[in-house]
Amino acid sequence: MERICEPELMDEPLQAQAYAQADFASSDQALLDRIAAQFGGDLGDHIVDLGCGPGNITFLLADRYPGSLVLGLDGAAAMLEIAEARRQSQPRWHQAVRFRQVVLPCADLQAGTATAVVSNSLLHHLHDPQVLWQTVRQLGSAGAVIMVRDLHRPASAEELDALLAVQMAGAPEVLRTDYANSLRAAFRCEEVVDQLRLAGLNTLKVARAGDRYLEVSGRLPLA
Ligand SMILES: C[S@@+](CC[C@H](N)C(=O)[O-])C[C@H]1O[C@@H](n2cnc3c(N)ncnc32)[C@H](O)[C@@H]1O
Repeated sequence: MERICEPELMDEPLQAQAYAQADFASSDQALLDRIAAQFGGDLGDHIVDLGCGPGNITFLLADRYPGSLVLGLDGAAAMLEIAEARRQSQPRWHQAVRFRQVVLPCADLQAGTATAVVSNSLLHHLHDPQVLWQTVRQLGSAGAVIMVRDLHRPASAEELDALLAVQMAGAPEVLRTDYANSLRAAFRCEEVVDQLRLAGLNTLKVARAGDRYLEVSGRLPLA
């Protein structure tokens, strides 16, 4: 199946609300567990969550790594409004979490300061995937932990329909449509391997994760 891009930003208020209300708890938790299994209990003092949306992963990171400041970046004001309201609602996140509205690529970011860069489900939104990989290079410090998870594009329309039937049973129409569009916009592992080679990110590995995700993980070089 050919890739079909979808709009980059999720800045429609209804779309952002539907996303924020959807239950991604088990797959979000699985991502946190994968990070802990690979990199242990310390990600350093500055974690960046790229394409953070309403902050689902950002807050889980803050709770799992209380010694770190977690910065969530997203270009969509509608998403960040929800994220910021959630941050305000919990005193423990007031110091530990920050959000900033940034459309990637962005030259005005503190280069080389992130001890870990995490991103969930941003890659497939980007019309040019190098935007993600260049941002990883831009933000990551030497030896930084990198964990990027995204959807894996199905091989055929039939495979896409089967995934929708299992994973979106009973979901609101706006979410079903978003999910189908996201699967069509996603990359396949071999494409991501080529992207990493082009970006010079040779220390990162690409692997399938379950029936719908791919995962890119590793550390940036030490020097
Ligand atoms: C599917 S959501 C994922 C949200 C979050 N990472 C999560 O796992 O719940 C993708 C997010 O990426 C953001 N995004 C897409 N393209 C972007 C860009 N060029 N710059 C900044 N954010 C972008 C969208 O606005 C959206 O909030």
